[in-house]
Amino acid sequence: MELHAMDLYIKSLIKEAGHLIRNSFVTELVVEAKSNVNDLVTNMDKEIEKFFISRIRRDFPGHRVFGEEGFGDVIEDLAGTIWMLDPIDGTMNFVHQKSNFAISLGVYEDGVGKLGYIYDVVNDNFYHAVHGEGAYCNDERLMPLEETSLDKSIVGINATWVTPNKYIRHEDSIRLIQDVRGTRSYGSAALELAFVASGRLDAYVSMRLSPWDIAGGMVIAREVGAVATNFKGEPANLLGQDSFIAANPSVHSQILNGYINLK
Ligand code: IPD
Ligand code: CA
Ligand code: CA
Repeated sequence: MELHAMDLYIKSLIKEAGHLIRNSFVTELVVEAKSNVNDLVTNMDKEIEKFFISRIRRDFPGHRVFGEEGFGDVIEDLAGTIWMLDPIDGTMNFVHQKSNFAISLGVYEDGVGKLGYIYDVVNDNFYHAVHGEGAYCNDERLMPLEETSLDKSIVGINATWVTPNKYIRHEDSIRLIQDVRGTRSYGSAALELAFVASGRLDAYVSMRLSPWDIAGGMVIAREVGAVATNFKGEPANLLGQDSFIAANPSVHSQILNGYINLK
C-alpha cells in the first residue's frame, strides 16, 4: 500500500482503538504487575495490541510488528517495514487517572521513520506525521521549533532521575533543574515527545525507554526540527532499551554535554 493510503488506514485504525479504550472505562480493569510492582499492564494494553496485530496481519502480511506486550514479532533487525506499537503509553496514568496516556505508533522502512502517530485518547488530540510532509496535531500543522536558550527552556524529566540511580550522576540532573526555567513530568514518553514537537516542552530526557515509546514521536518531532538521540549522541535505539533525549536543536547538545554524565 502506498504511504498516503497507509496513513489514512492507520488514522482510522487508531481512532477505532481509541473507541475501544474509551468504552473500556465502564468495565472493570484487570491490572497486573510486570517486571516490578510499579510496572503495570492491564487487559486493555493486551487487547489493544492484539487488535492492531490482527488488522496488520490481515491487511499487511509482509510487515512485522514490534509491540510492547509481545504479541507481535521478535525484532532483531530493522529490515523491511516494521510497525512499532505501544498500545497504551502511560499505563500507570491510564490505571490511576484515566487520562494522560496515548496510543503510540511508528512505521519504519529499513530503519527510516515514515509514519508517526500519537493519540491522546481522552483529550482527543491526534498527532501525526508523514516523513517529509510536516507534523500535525489534529488538522493544525505544528510550526518549526524556534530558537531558544536553556534558561528559557521547560524540560520534561521524571523525578526518578534526580534521585540516586544507577544510570546517571543525579547531581548533574539537579543542576539541570536549577538552570532551566521549569520542569514537567507527564508520565507518558509518547505525550512528552508530542509536547516537544508542539513546543510545549523544549526537551524531554529519560534514562531508559523502549523503541515503542519513541518510534512514533520521533517521526513527528523530527518534522519540526527536534533532535532525538541517546545520551551518547548516537541515533536513538530502535532495537532495545536505551537512554533518550529529544530536544529543540538550540539546547540538545548543551543538555547532553553540560548536564548528563553516564555512570
Ligand atoms: C512508560 C511511560 C513512562 C516512561 C516509562 C515507560 P508504559 O511506558 O512512557 O512515562 O517513563 O519509561 O515505560 O509502560 O506506560 O507503556
Ligand atoms: Ca511505553
Ligand atoms: Ca505501554
